[in-house]
Amino acid sequence: MCGIVGYVGDKDCADVLVDGLKKLEYRGYDSAGIAVFQNGEIEVEKSKGKLADLENKMKNEGKPSGHCGIGHTRWATHGEPSDINSHPHGNKRVSIVHNGIIENYKQIKDFLTGKGYVFESETDTETVAKLLDYLYDGNPIETLSKMIDKVRGSYALGILFKDYPDTIFAVRKESPLIVGLGENENFIASDVTPILKYTRKYYLLEQDEIAIIKKDSVKIVTPENEEITKEVLTADWDVDAAEKGGYAHFMLKEINEQPSKIKTTISPRIQDGMPYLEESGITMEMLKNSKRIFIVACGTAMHAGMVGKYVIESLARVEVTVDIASEFRYRNPLIEKGDLVILISQSGETADTYAALKLAKERGATTVSVVNVKGSTIAREADKVIYTHAGPEISVASTKAYSVQLSIMYLFAFELAYAKEKISKERCMELTKQLMEVPDKLAEVLELKERCQFIASRLVNAESLLYIGRGLDYALSMEGSLKLKEISYIHSESYAAGELKHGTISLVTEDMPVIAVATQSNLLEKTISNVKEVKARGAKVTVICKEGTEIGKDVANHLVTLPAMEDMLMPMLAAVPMQYIAYYTAALKGCDVDQPRNLAKSVTVE
Ligand code: AGP
Ligand code: GLU
Repeated sequence: MCGIVGYVGDKDCADVLVDGLKKLEYRGYDSAGIAVFQNGEIEVEKSKGKLADLENKMKNEGKPSGHCGIGHTRWATHGEPSDINSHPHGNKRVSIVHNGIIENYKQIKDFLTGKGYVFESETDTETVAKLLDYLYDGNPIETLSKMIDKVRGSYALGILFKDYPDTIFAVRKESPLIVGLGENENFIASDVTPILKYTRKYYLLEQDEIAIIKKDSVKIVTPENEEITKEVLTADWDVDAAEKGGYAHFMLKEINEQPSKIKTTISPRIQDGMPYLEESGITMEMLKNSKRIFIVACGTAMHAGMVGKYVIESLARVEVTVDIASEFRYRNPLIEKGDLVILISQSGETADTYAALKLAKERGATTVSVVNVKGSTIAREADKVIYTHAGPEISVASTKAYSVQLSIMYLFAFELAYAKEKISKERCMELTKQLMEVPDKLAEVLELKERCQFIASRLVNAESLLYIGRGLDYALSMEGSLKLKEISYIHSESYAAGELKHGTISLVTEDMPVIAVATQSNLLEKTISNVKEVKARGAKVTVICKEGTEIGKDVANHLVTLPAMEDMLMPMLAAVPMQYIAYYTAALKGCDVDQPRNLAKSVTVE
């Protein structure tokens, strides 16, 4: 959610800022702006809309020229997207960009209004800009330190003080921010993607640390102005990972990366044919003694948890509760010492999931995070972390991150079932072997592109769709439905096939296409009966099933046949046609596939 970039060095600052912000576009935004020191003055350019709008504006009005500055893509929380509400905010003395929410902005605003300050925007951010101006006494560290005391909420801030024209100041609380360390140039950024083409070295800024960044030095201090020695981290993501590499969209590229990313995620966690999560601190002892399991996450990550629940319960016979993080944190959950709480998150920064993690820790549960972004808040603060290795996921719609999350759910379930002596070593090895075969099978599934494209062409005019399935197929269809609605803007719902008759079937007409997932042999006949019920009411049905399944022409209008695997692993294959169908439907409708309206990649606010 929102992007921050800052640059100080010899290059043209405005160009580096805009280029860096483009790398952060995927996070979602509705306006953009930069502030650059030009001949000792802070020059600001900002505009509602995309970065292209800002670039056009600068073409017409002139681009600020200088070597030190800050930039921002805003995802509006307080006040509509408009030129005035765009960041940077401030005045000629101090200028800031902000990611997050200032909870006590109203009190600060009232206080400053009483002191004669006049506000021009509706943002919470402007109150911090004006507060800094009010507190400023010539010493930036003291000023920032006082601000930290007074401001409540979440923030990553990039700050320029007029009196320090070669310096960027930065501070964060809850919202992410890194400091990129280059040769004779340094950066700040919301994540590593904008800095990769210049450097791989960076610092992770921790809560309330203040960074003072110049061209040839970076100093990090506490609010009490004590210098902190920090570990220099190295980004291991490829520069190409943040490029489309010939694909029309990042989403299509990321769908196609799934076989290799699953391999990279599971290979280091398999030893002598057995799952091995010990490097993440998950020991056999810990698994053996674990009582109940809670899986807490949002959106797609929560859907990966749903698949996890089915697999863990059926193999390890341990009770699993899956929770939406925003519900979990407010429902006073019955968790206690001995429970295991698994937090799944691609970004590792999702505010609700982070709050759930804090709650679980307070209640004494053991917390394990399954996270893609190295060093992110949820990864660092959970007791144990299992990193997925999907590389940067740029498209807002999650695809490869989902697949790697699933692969970890499987490994975890296999190891837990073995630790609890619910499956033999041979069975555990057999399941692990089959999981290792998934990447090759997936490569075959990726060949179904044209079939899915054709099915998508039949869906573009639909107003609403129904996804149905039973058991694991139901868990998976939730993700299929979310994928379609978030990028194609076609309403869809996923429904447990057996539950249709209890109400929802009244919606089914010839105008309501149905996608049925039927990969589970023990539930096949039942699901097919449900498919027949919707077909009899005029629905055009697409059935996703596995090779060897007999599906009559009278049952399906369109068929997607997947290579056969053990039923339990079929979600890993069936996810791909769902992703393709959503992708092609959105692309055919001309939607902004990678940056769907109103959505942000990483939801760092409640
Ligand atoms: C996925 O397509 C969505 N954009 C969204 O549901 C996402 O999965 C959710 O916001 C959770 O994000 P996280 O994995 O970064 O925590
Ligand atoms: N709350 C701020 C605003 O609405 C910052 C939003 C963001 O993180 O982009 O302007």
